[in-house]
Parts: sequence; C-alpha cells; structure tokens
Amino acid sequence: MKPTDWDPHGPDVRADQRTAYDDMRARCPVAYDASGGWTLFRHEDVVRVLHDHETFSNVVSRHPSVPNGMDPPVHGPFRRLVDTYFTDALVAAFEPTCRDLAARLVDAAVQQRDVDVMTAIALPFAASAQCAYLGWPPDLAAPLVEWTRRNHAATLAGDRDAHATIARELEAFVAGVIDRRRAERRRPPVDLTDRLIRETVDGRRLTLVEMTSLLRNWTMGEVGTIAASVGIVAVAIATDQGLQHQLRWHLQLLPASIDELLRLHGPLLGNRRVTTRPVVIGDREIDAGSRVTINWVAANRDPETFTQAGAFRLDRDPADNLLYGAGIHVCPGAALARLELRVLVEELLAATCLIETIDDRPFRLALPPASGYAEVPLHLVHA
Ligand code: HEM
Repeated sequence: MKPTDWDPHGPDVRADQRTAYDDMRARCPVAYDASGGWTLFRHEDVVRVLHDHETFSNVVSRHPSVPNGMDPPVHGPFRRLVDTYFTDALVAAFEPTCRDLAARLVDAAVQQRDVDVMTAIALPFAASAQCAYLGWPPDLAAPLVEWTRRNHAATLAGDRDAHATIARELEAFVAGVIDRRRAERRRPPVDLTDRLIRETVDGRRLTLVEMTSLLRNWTMGEVGTIAASVGIVAVAIATDQGLQHQLRWHLQLLPASIDELLRLHGPLLGNRRVTTRPVVIGDREIDAGSRVTINWVAANRDPETFTQAGAFRLDRDPADNLLYGAGIHVCPGAALARLELRVLVEELLAATCLIETIDDRPFRLALPPASGYAEVPLHLVHA
C-alpha cells in the first residue's frame, strides 16, 4: 500500500484549515491520503488542472451533475444554457430585491445587538437570495438552510448513508418545485424557474433529472458558499477596525476588498477531478483513474504567486485570484455572488456605526468539507 502524506480530517486541519493547508503547500504540495485521493495545494498546479480538462476530467461520479460533473463536448451546451441565467442584465435587475432581503435581515440582527452572524444573517440571506433569484416562495428558504446544515453534518460524520439520503431529499425537494411549476403552466414565463422548465438543449427538452441536477448545483453553489463568504467578510471587518473604517468611508472599495478577503480565506474548500491518464505533477506520479482534489484555499494563498500572500492588498492582479475558479468550469454565478455580497456588506455597514467582537465569545471555525466559520458572534451597534 502506498504511504500516505496527510489526513484531510486530522487534528491540525480541524483546528485551523488555512494554517494546515499552508503547511502542506510548503511541505508536500501534491499529497496522497488514505482514501486513495490526491490533493493539490499549489496555485501553479491548480491552474494547470483547470486548463487541462482532457487529463483532469470532471466526471467524478456515476450520478449526473449538470454542469459541474461534465466534460466537453457534453458540458458546452449545458454551460451555454446556464450562462444565460446569469447575464449582467438579470443580475443587475436583482439588486433591489436582494437589497430588500439584506436590509430586513440586517435590521432584525441589529435590534438584537449581539448575534451569531451565521444563523442570524449569513445562512438565511444566502438561502432567501437563492429563492428570490429563482422565483421560489420565500418559505422554501428555511428548508434549504436546514438541508445545508444536515448535509454538512452527515459529511462531517463520514455517514455515507445519511449523505445519500439527504442528497435524495434535496433532489425530491427540487423536483417538487419543478412539478408545481409544470402544473401551473404560467405563460409567458414569470421567473427563471418558469423559464428553466421550458428549456431545450441540443434541440430537446431538458429532462427532470437534468433540471433537478442543475438546480441542485446552484443550491449547493449558492447557500453554503455565500453564507461562508458572509461570515468570513464579517469577521474581517470586525477584527480590523482600520479596514472597517476605510470601507465605511469608501464603499467603492468593497468589490475588490471582498474578493481579496475571500482570497485570504477561501469560502470554498475544494473541487474534484479524476485523471484520464497517468500524469506527473511536481515530483509525484499519479495513476490514471485517480481522484484529484483542487484545494482552492491553499492555492489562493500561495506565496509563489502572491507577494506577501497573507496580507490584504488591493493592488493585486485580479486574474491570479482563483476564488471563482478558471477555465471552462469557471463559476457562472460569480456576478450574482459578487452582487449579493456587496449589497449585504453595504447594508451591514449602513445599519451600524460599529461592528466588533464580543470578548468572551470566540469565533468557531467550520470543519472540512466546509470552510469559513460555524459561528460568528458579533456585537452590532445601531447607526
Ligand atoms: C462566493 C460564492 C461562490 C464561490 C466562491 C464559487 C466558486 C466556484 C468555483 C471555484 C467554481 C469552479 C468549480 C470547478 O472548477 O470544478 C464554481 C463553479 C460553479 N458555480 Fe460557483 N461559486 C459561488 C457562487 C455561486 C452561485 C451564487 C451560483 C449559482 C447560483 C454558483 C454556481 C456554480 C455552478 C453551476 C458551477 C459549475 C460550473 C461548470 O462546471 O461549468 N456559484 N463556483
């Protein structure tokens, strides 16, 4: 049996993922673990994988995953369809609704003064923004938050059966939404979900399995990652009063600042590939058919790519930041994610005159496969 290099769930990783991954990138940038998979920690290696989809396939599972689990030529038509749901015009039109959702959650949180930002703002915001963008009723947000929580708990416990059950539950949930829409047959389409049920790809209607998978991909992309991003940005502005002051007075710095804060602390841990042929990365030989995980958190903190990698700087080349990936699978929801995060932080700053930590209540970091924080207690002082 091949000796292993690390334990992706070891005590050092559970204590502080960023430090553990920084250490791995320096010590063993292409690492093999007991599950038989490889993890890549270096920016250069990750970029190579992202641009070589012939060697590093996205078809990592037997279950269909539209479009993330697809390779060319199948991926292209689905991806072009997905892109039409995130045009600049659609995203810009969502801003007033998004701002209203953010303002209501922030106002309620500010009334409480001391809150856990994850439960009071981040998770409900991510789920209700997802519902609103797709035209789903707002009461579907709470079940989505609950699903995200249980899915994470099952992954953490390594409980494959529970995980499979929870995945089926989300599929059934999404299939139920689609069924209701099909029964309503609203003409002309009122929202994006009405539009989706009429979509065709390669001249044929999308199947229920494809639609369900697509919406599942969006849900997983949106709820967990947006919520983690809100927590990470909230911690950064609460623990650096200089940065908080600067952002309060220079809101135009928010977009670049949010991208840079999320480079420093990635909200998404990894994505998987499988090798289609034997390959050498660094000095390691990887067999065909091996699972390879891209570690976004480590790649985006690589000192070989980023000068003073651990420092917050707004003068970096945005093209180096892998927050939203690169290549053919680059995040189609990036513009929407950026809008949601900017609007939420604008509302948070507008509703408060001070955001600070609470002395006896430390932050609790999330555990892999999640990133960011599990609990972010903050003191929000009304403006
Ligand atoms: C801060 C929030 C987000 C981050 C950091 C993020 C990051 C990423 C990254 C790194 C990838 C590339 C995955 C790979 O190479 O395998 C990706 C793909 C994807 N993201 Fe996002 N994402 C975010 C929000 C969203 C949102 C809001 C949506 C949709 C509502 C979304 C939908 C998707 C989809 C469908 C893909 C797969 C694209 C493909 O395979 O062609 N993401 N995302």
